Amino acid sequence: MQTNSRIQEQLEAWVEGNRGHAILGTTAQYIPALGKEDPSQLGICMLDDNGNYYCAGDTDKEFTLQSISKALTFIALSCNYGLDFVLERVDVEPTGEAFNSIVPFEIHRPNKPFNPFINAGAITISALLPGQTSQKKYEFLLHFLENLVGHPLELDKEVYDSEWASSHRNRALAYYLKEAKFLEIEVEEALDIYIRQCAIKVSTKDLALIGLIIAYDGYNPITKVKHFSDEIAQVAKVLMVTCGMYNSSGNFAAHVGIPAKSGVSGGIMAAVPPKLHSQTYEFRAGAGIGVYGPAIDVQGNSAAGTMMLRQISKEWDLSIF
Ligand code: DON
Repeated sequence: MQTNSRIQEQLEAWVEGNRGHAILGTTAQYIPALGKEDPSQLGICMLDDNGNYYCAGDTDKEFTLQSISKALTFIALSCNYGLDFVLERVDVEPTGEAFNSIVPFEIHRPNKPFNPFINAGAITISALLPGQTSQKKYEFLLHFLENLVGHPLELDKEVYDSEWASSHRNRALAYYLKEAKFLEIEVEEALDIYIRQCAIKVSTKDLALIGLIIAYDGYNPITKVKHFSDEIAQVAKVLMVTCGMYNSSGNFAAHVGIPAKSGVSGGIMAAVPPKLHSQTYEFRAGAGIGVYGPAIDVQGNSAAGTMMLRQISKEWDLSIF
């Protein structure tokens, strides 16, 4: 293993070397509160199984989960009702379409949404969270996440209000889901819980910790607490590989090869499983990664963040494939 300061220096160099790739994207203009972020920000935190954090670049900043929340709702719901309950209501097939597309429904008329990471599948499963109201459902998810990260989390009210006011596409999707009988609660309630979960504020450190727990199949190797089952973690990782980066999941798998989930805030949560036959010693026992780079590409993934992960994975041989 390189000395800790060597890893730290390496990450700092890679952040600066990749910052310029932000030019390949723009901040998420369709949610005005996200659109006004400084697109040149880039930061990363990596966490190893001994609890050592390596953070470089813009890591002081908190940002909203956005679509990263979809992976976490999937895990929380599966923990509460069991994996079978969830998989009866949402499939695990990638669509190859944009995250907010209505096309797969219109063309294929599936008997359940294709996967829980596209907006249609995510709205469907968020609506199933335990609790009679969207407030109670939100509290359930929040407590689950607070338990994972070990500290209180908050809603970014400005981002919530901004998305609520501009959520025409999601509203259309939710009406479609209601008509197809996938949605068991009212449209406005379903949108409320979905938009709330997207507006939960986190740091790159929080994402690194949750990523590490997923990499370790639901087990936190630092606190020695088992949060969710191996089976749930396995399906979560399959979804992250096949759908986590939307319609560039194939490219991400080929060039980065780490289960990951992105959000339009520019966050990426990645789970690096242990790899004992790795060609390098860095993070051989696995890692969690949190990235923030708010300039996103057309698929909705952090432009500079993706390029940086590509370099890190190649240099440190982190691909699972
Ligand atoms: O529903 C939306 O459009 C956003 N709240 C979340 C989308 C998202 O993060 C897709 N990500 N890459």
